[in-house]
Amino acid sequence: VTNGNGVKGLSEMGLKTLPKQYIQPVEERITVSNILPQESIPIIDMSNWDELKVSESICDAAEKCGFFQIINHGVPIEVLENVKDATHRFFNLPAEEKRKFSKENSPSNSVRFGTSFSPEAEKALEWKDYLSLFYVSEDEASALWPSACKDQVLEYMRGSEPVIQRLLEALMKRINVKEIDETKESLLMGSKRINLNYYPICPNPELTVGVGRHSDVSTLTILLQDNIGGLYVRGNNDSWVHVPPVSGSLVINVGDALQIISNGRYKSIEHRVAASGSKNRISVPIFVNPRPCDMIGPFSEVLARGEKALYKQVLYSDYVKHFFRKAHDGKNTIEFAK
Ligand code: SIN
Ligand code: FE2
Repeated sequence: VTNGNGVKGLSEMGLKTLPKQYIQPVEERITVSNILPQESIPIIDMSNWDELKVSESICDAAEKCGFFQIINHGVPIEVLENVKDATHRFFNLPAEEKRKFSKENSPSNSVRFGTSFSPEAEKALEWKDYLSLFYVSEDEASALWPSACKDQVLEYMRGSEPVIQRLLEALMKRINVKEIDETKESLLMGSKRINLNYYPICPNPELTVGVGRHSDVSTLTILLQDNIGGLYVRGNNDSWVHVPPVSGSLVINVGDALQIISNGRYKSIEHRVAASGSKNRISVPIFVNPRPCDMIGPFSEVLARGEKALYKQVLYSDYVKHFFRKAHDGKNTIEFAK
């Protein structure tokens, strides 16, 4: 399908029309008619994150929208800029350098260079290349991750730790979890995955997608995007709401694991990415996840008042396997936990 350099390679061949493998069914395409410009997701200023009103806005946004942006979050702008540069540096490597990290060649399952989402399972491919890095420890990362980006990515992971902690503390308080003990810490943030996404210029952006409709399987996702735009979130009715690039901000969204843990109180919302006809876009999500070996289900604190459990206990690694076994299909993964 690709020439071994992903869709970036296709893009750079100067194709005039989109190869047919990438043509999405009409209902999956992103057109102006299903975008409502009047809706928007909240932007929360975290400069005084000890204040009650900051936690309140975070919890309200996680309950109502499932998506919000944060500014003055404490991750230095320079760290964010360095990660974006590192992402471009990795994707600009010669094809043979990137291929060292493909499924066939990668020295470890924790490092994967790939294209589309789940090519074996997809009827239509997605216009995206990625480098996916599973984070276990700094030592392992230093040994295995590509040198073109590893220092900057690790710095970003360290730098975002305090804000992740803060967000989860606030969200837990609202659902009566007073203290994040070791077990809960593992369930909420026991493992991490970071993706470097590259969406090259597309000859027919209106016929395909960068990423199809899905919700994340994380507890929380922290997303850094550049200034191009193209991320859309499911709004009220059948609309899609654009997440506009805001300089220095991070986009936060609730994932399925947190929807399950909170027994549906926090919403893991469907989203997708449009392809661009004029710009190469990058984004860098950190997926904050349970550990693969954790059983996830609604926390007892949430059910304490006799609320009925909406989800059963599932092994997190099974949940993730179920997500990756199929093409992007909106909110369907969560049915697995019912
Ligand atoms: C994703 O949700 O998979 C990617 C989001 C983005 O690139 O903005
Ligand atoms: Fe996502």
